[in-house]
Amino acid sequence: MFSLIYVSVIAGELMHYKYRPSSSYLIGAALSVNNRIGVDLVDNRRIKKYLSGSFLRHILSEEELAEYSVRKDPITYVAGRIAAKEAILKCLVDRPITDFTKITITNGPFGEPMVHFEDYVIQVSISHEKDYTVAVALIQA
Ligand SMILES: CC(C)(COP(=O)(O)OP(=O)(O)OC[C@H]1O[C@@H](n2cnc3c(N)ncnc32)[C@H](O)[C@@H]1OP(=O)(O)O)[C@@H](O)C(=O)NCCC(=O)NCCS
Repeated sequence: MFSLIYVSVIAGELMHYKYRPSSSYLIGAALSVNNRIGVDLVDNRRIKKYLSGSFLRHILSEEELAEYSVRKDPITYVAGRIAAKEAILKCLVDRPITDFTKITITNGPFGEPMVHFEDYVIQVSISHEKDYTVAVALIQA
């Protein structure tokens, strides 16, 4: 109900300003009110310090640990997984995640990141620079 009221108010505002949105715009707006986004920024230089010891076993799933061992640039790989999982955590405000190893982020046929976490439908995007890694997550709640 709240979503419908919200969309109606937005549509009313747009009409007031003589803007004529297409029906697909309004459908998109109606769908997006239940989505949530999260973002996280990681300093790659901090990751380097934690690579020894058991740190990775607390962050990466078994599948990710295997991928980590063959990556040309393992530090950015870990930074990307941490940033993406933190971003996912920010989406799931009502479901605190205490174990990052339960989330697996693989790469699809085009290199695109794909999230595997219970029945959740989650999209993430990751980008690396020399010292920083950023990730954005979107969940359909
Ligand atoms: C995919 C692409 C956008 C990556 O951009 P980039 O600046 O090199 O690298 P970034 O650090 O910003 O992004 C890397 C991350 O993007 C993600 N990624 C890779 N390929 C992707 C794709 N096709 N779609 C969405 N995300 C992708 C991955 O998560 C990757 O990080 P990860 O390997 O740690 O998981 C870039 O290579 C591109 O434009 N590719 C499309 C064209 C292409 O494939 N050209 C080459 C053949 S013609």
